[in-house]
Amino acid sequence: VTYWVVIPAAGIGSRMRADRPKQYLPLGDRALIEHTLDCFLDRPGLKGLVVCLSAVDRWWDDLACASDTRIQHVVGGRDRADSVLAGLLALLQQGADREDWVLVHDAARPNLSATDLHNLLNTLADDPVGGLLAVPVRDTLKCAGPDGRVASTPDRSLFWQAYTPQMFRLGALHDALFRALAAGVSITDEASAMEHAGQAPRLVEGRSDNIKVTRPEDLEWLARLRG
Ligand code: C5P
Repeated sequence: VTYWVVIPAAGIGSRMRADRPKQYLPLGDRALIEHTLDCFLDRPGLKGLVVCLSAVDRWWDDLACASDTRIQHVVGGRDRADSVLAGLLALLQQGADREDWVLVHDAARPNLSATDLHNLLNTLADDPVGGLLAVPVRDTLKCAGPDGRVASTPDRSLFWQAYTPQMFRLGALHDALFRALAAGVSITDEASAMEHAGQAPRLVEGRSDNIKVTRPEDLEWLARLRG
């Protein structure tokens, strides 16, 4: 399978309470986003990589990977979906085929395993829609009422956590995101845009340690994991 990769990295990461966006925080001797890019670089089938950066980004140019010719960058948008849309549009404007696969993966998810990537690509290679890595929820879920009390307990066997990469056809994903954003629908992942377009993305079970760094303790946990 051949594919493009789009990495939204235009967030400001306010939940991390750090001096810089979380994708630029150190993990070992390099920035988080460099580990994330490593999950894709040198893998068979990769056609190219687009990183979506904030218009006021001050950190990308200092990274060693900024001079890597396989990586291009575009200016992202206000929300994650706007950033992804900018990346997809850049690929289409450069003549990428609408039928090409594109994998969208969070900059702040540096622990994607080669096995998960391989499983996603193999499972979806002939799929008419595409899909995403996901993990069945382990804990019981509670629906909160406005008073801070439990309103209900849904059947947890139906629930999955949506991870990335999420893999769709370039043209279909571009159109779905564009229409969902124009309609004012809240879009927190690519699959939800496809769902809004009437499609049912496939869930591909992945490893639970492919976490998105959101809080300071996530980074500490990853650093310990990597020794
Ligand atoms: O904020 P959250 O953890 O959901 O961000 C997920 C990913 O989307 C991060 O890699 C972040 O940099 C990116 N993002 C973006 N453009 C935005 C907001 C978030 O590319 N406007």
